Amino acid sequence: MKIHVKVPATTANLGPGFDALGLALDLWNEADFVATDDRQITLTIAGEGEGKLPTDANNPIVEAALQVYDLAKKPCSGIRIHCINRVPLSSGLGSSSTAMLTGLLGANALLGNPFNDEEILKLAIENEGHPDNVAPAMLGGLVASIVYEGRVISIKLPARANRSPMHVTIVLPDFDFPTRQARAILPKQVDRKDAIYNISRAVMVTEALRTGDLDLLGKAMTDALHQPYRLPLIPGAQAAMEAGRHAGAAAVALSGAGPSLIAFSSKQDPNIGHSMQRAFEAAGLSARIFELSTSYEGAEVMIV
Ligand code: HSE
Repeated sequence: MKIHVKVPATTANLGPGFDALGLALDLWNEADFVATDDRQITLTIAGEGEGKLPTDANNPIVEAALQVYDLAKKPCSGIRIHCINRVPLSSGLGSSSTAMLTGLLGANALLGNPFNDEEILKLAIENEGHPDNVAPAMLGGLVASIVYEGRVISIKLPARANRSPMHVTIVLPDFDFPTRQARAILPKQVDRKDAIYNISRAVMVTEALRTGDLDLLGKAMTDALHQPYRLPLIPGAQAAMEAGRHAGAAAVALSGAGPSLIAFSSKQDPNIGHSMQRAFEAAGLSARIFELSTSYEGAEVMIV
């Protein structure tokens, strides 16, 4: 029996929805899991991270898979895992969430699903620390999350972007900006006016995505809590945002903690990505372009 797992990339924050909103994208990491009895965990990787990611017990997919065996109190007699990675690492596109979910879902399916989807999501959020990538990767579409009495509640919101995918351009500069660093530089306290700025806009962003109103999205997808501190640390990022808007994107934001930027537009237009890429190049950074759409579907597990 082979288990096939697919998990999408995600973009978190969506401008003002810092740590609260996330959206699944139509770019997928896939993995095959086979149970063996050779007492070995073998992991092979093709694509993003090939030759860079660990393939031993330190790989997050392996760690997550073994966590499921532990929690289910089942011995692991061996697993063979092969991954096809399309989500770039450390990019602001949720690659660590895809790895976490891949390991949890693959092992859970090998064991005959001792845990339901809600339990797997809860475990992934506890491991990851933030729900805004993990929850949309699991559920698909636009997802809002809150912490209620110490427990995360994540809800998939009705959004036009879910029903008819919106066009999205991701521009990823070749710049190391780990999430840990991108969080450490944020102020511990915020002004009331900045809090109001974000609360009001986060509501408008969900409404703009619900109705497909790109004009409203352009007005609302700005932020006072994280982008003003992060963008200046990524060479060319501010100029690339402006270049994207100038080239016709309705809205541009930092994707998650960065360093990639996400631009929304009514149609796929290569000029948007190229203009943003040139802005990064002018600041000395090469940049990759991904022309994508949003995904209503979240993680999928198949027995093949
Ligand atoms: N909301 C997070 C951040 C993204 O901006 O730091 C990673 O989950």
